[in-house]
Amino acid sequence: MQQDQLKRAVAEAALAYVEKGEILGVGTGSTANFFIDALASIKHHIPAAVASSKATAERLQRLGIEVVDLNAVDSISVYVDGADEINAQLHMIKGGGGALTREKIVAAVAKKFICIADASKQVDVLGKFPLPIEVIPMASAYIARELVKLGGKPILRQGFMTDNGNVILDTHGLSIVHPTELESILNQLTGVVTNGLFALRPANVLLVGTKEGVKTVVAS
Ligand code: 5RP
Repeated sequence: MQQDQLKRAVAEAALAYVEKGEILGVGTGSTANFFIDALASIKHHIPAAVASSKATAERLQRLGIEVVDLNAVDSISVYVDGADEINAQLHMIKGGGGALTREKIVAAVAKKFICIADASKQVDVLGKFPLPIEVIPMASAYIARELVKLGGKPILRQGFMTDNGNVILDTHGLSIVHPTELESILNQLTGVVTNGLFALRPANVLLVGTKEGVKTVVAS
């Protein structure tokens, strides 16, 4: 099966987790886009959605789903999003699409995080995918030096600005054996807005697309 077919399969499987009449959180990226397209069939059950990026907001609105500001809602029942890598503990690297900050905020609010991914995203140890780190532009050289001290090789994502007006350092070479610890360390660096480790708030459920079908992994 092609990777896109696997992405579509997990996106459709995620519809079962959408709670009728509840505000839905929606992620960013190609797998999340398959999910948005699949939402068309149940959009009458969704009063509104909170989007994790401008691109997702536009795609939802094109489908006729109302998009509301996170500050206007008290809670989000379910957040559905993809990942760049995910381990057995459902810790993730996210931010390949550059939306990590808003994704992490929506995930923090959501009661349940459903990660949708094709099997290529499953890893034993996080870190082969360069870790995206969103940084205030004036701090980028300082943060890059700090990341080198931590053993990383940061590369400024060229020609890219996040929805929040910041830059991204894609950080290669980190073998992330203790994801929660590294997430906390990176959060302490002054000038870092968000790092792409989603370990302190991991996914609750992983729907993974394999040649044998969609498999469900629930966080222990
Ligand atoms: C965007 C993300 C995406 O979830 C991640 O990059 C996966 O994308 P895709 O579904 O296109 O493989 O974190 O910031």
